[in-house]
Amino acid sequence: MRSIVTGGAGFIGSHLVDHLVNAGDDVIVIDSLVSGDIESLRTHLDTKRVTLVSADLLSDGWQEHVAGADRVYHLAADPDVRESAFSPDKQLNNTIITTHRVLEAMRKSGVREIVFTSTSTVYGEAVIIPTPESYTPLEPVSVYGASKLACEALISAYAHSFSMRAWSFRFANIIGARSGHGVITDFIRKLKENPAELEILGDGKQTKSYLEVGECIQAILFVADHTNNVVNTYNIGSEDWISVTDIADIVTEEMGLSPEYRFTGGSRGWVGDVPKMQLDITRLKDLGYIPGINSRESVRVAVRATLES
Ligand SMILES: NC(=O)c1ccc[n+]([C@@H]2O[C@H](COP(=O)([O-])OP(=O)(O)OC[C@H]3O[C@@H](n4cnc5c(N)ncnc54)[C@H](O)[C@@H]3O)[C@@H](O)[C@H]2O)c1
Repeated sequence: MRSIVTGGAGFIGSHLVDHLVNAGDDVIVIDSLVSGDIESLRTHLDTKRVTLVSADLLSDGWQEHVAGADRVYHLAADPDVRESAFSPDKQLNNTIITTHRVLEAMRKSGVREIVFTSTSTVYGEAVIIPTPESYTPLEPVSVYGASKLACEALISAYAHSFSMRAWSFRFANIIGARSGHGVITDFIRKLKENPAELEILGDGKQTKSYLEVGECIQAILFVADHTNNVVNTYNIGSEDWISVTDIADIVTEEMGLSPEYRFTGGSRGWVGDVPKMQLDITRLKDLGYIPGINSRESVRVAVRATLES
């Protein structure tokens, strides 16, 4: 297969590229490197298994590389939920407009398959937990969640209108080596600066589901191989959840520290935070994929990987 990975130099994208290269795909990464790291692709670039097109999807020129691809994995986005409350324009441009531009490039060059990385935040503060894909009303509480939901809608319309096939994956919190954002990275950075105290956003009782990145990639590829509806929407997560304070305990234990916890207070960590999140993954399991790792194990693996990097 000839695969395009937008955002392929980023955290999840670079792990996806590893899997695609191992599977024998020719891979073209399109990434502005705004938060991605070229070093994550170094081995594949040196062995010429991957071509990097260093471009912003909001600019022009990269579209010529889309022609002839079998599938586009579209991961490039601004993944910062917290920041999306402060700069909605940036979020809309980097998530919705970029997605529209990718879809247009596909339509114009006849590329028919798109895999899209969506998010649990499209559900907003769901009253049914674990939350299934069929949950309504979809009422995001962050600009990031709203942007991803808009992208899902656009992708659906393009798939139905222009003979495409689409997969939208609604991720829980994906964690692991090479992650540059999120609670684990945040805690480790703060503890390296001040081992005596750890600031925890909110009351620490926010409880969410986490999944190790390798497991996430395997689930995506399994679903894409085993489904062929015009639009295929799947939750990807683990079957349990863990509180922010419990994550802090694992991080401090792994770092051999006993800091004072200082909570900033309130039930959510930031504007747009969803305090309770767990996804119902029955649809994924019914297809035959059962994640082999839970939230607590995922956190420990991710903490160790981050500390080793
Ligand atoms: N990490 C998670 O827990 C999580 C959860 C739900 C959904 N997602 C989604 O998964 C995808 C990957 O997230 P990640 O955690 O790997 O983030 P990341 O920031 O590590 O990766 C995003 C990549 O996209 C690139 N990029 C951003 N804007 C671009 C633009 N305009 N043009 C070209 N490249 C651009 C960045 O340079 C980066 O390499 C995103 O779509 C994100 O919304 C992530």
